[in-house]
Amino acid sequence: MPKVLEQSGVVLQKPLDARTYLLRLNAAQIAEQVVPGQFVHIKLTMPGEALLRHPFGVAAVDKTQGTIDIIYRVAGEFTRALAKLTPCDRLSILGPLGRGFDLAAPGRTLLVGGGTGLAPLLFLVSRLGAEKTDVLMGARTKEELFWQKLFRPFVQHIFITTDDGSLGTHGTVMALLPSLLTQGYQRVYVCGPSPMMKAVANACEAQDVACQVSLERYMACGMGACLSCTCQGREKRLKVCTDGPAFWSKEVSEW
Ligand code: FES
Repeated sequence: MPKVLEQSGVVLQKPLDARTYLLRLNAAQIAEQVVPGQFVHIKLTMPGEALLRHPFGVAAVDKTQGTIDIIYRVAGEFTRALAKLTPCDRLSILGPLGRGFDLAAPGRTLLVGGGTGLAPLLFLVSRLGAEKTDVLMGARTKEELFWQKLFRPFVQHIFITTDDGSLGTHGTVMALLPSLLTQGYQRVYVCGPSPMMKAVANACEAQDVACQVSLERYMACGMGACLSCTCQGREKRLKVCTDGPAFWSKEVSEW
């Protein structure tokens, strides 16, 4: 799949909670090609801004409008600069990059996500059938669960856990996952903090449920050239940017 370098305009910058934003970008060629689980590499082009590209999973695509959405949390210099962008500001996007999720015959599916790990799962869920798909989302507190509204049109059931017990089941996603895995799911897709993905992958293996994970690593080049993103797989060293970021959990041994 050819990669495209697009000079993109900001269409929309929308706050979703106190620190999380949805950024909609004009990127018609990338929107045409990108599949769930792939990412784009973004560089700011205003004078004085950071020169390095940063990776973001694609959260939604509108091929008719030629736009892609990313959802990010402000957590450093780059995302602070992103949050200042307004419509008509421009930036540089390279993509689509990486290997997306395996979508072949998933059967009854459970998505498991936490924080901005839910962003690539949102794009994924828009391509799955709602009648066969549920989502389990974990958060620290109920204020972070604007995700419910975004997922609602695409799923049958939404299961929720919060660390502080302010909504849903008290605890992490692991408070609910083992019992959910006895309910006939054939595929789990998980994206979020590494300890969560490892715990979910182990639980799926124990119950013999196929599990796809989406790994997050620092990615300097995004194209397999610099080795900044490698991690140990069960059979070989993996480049997250080109071998992934989506992997079968059984391919991964370092989280
Ligand atoms: S980011 Fe350079 S090899 Fe993966």
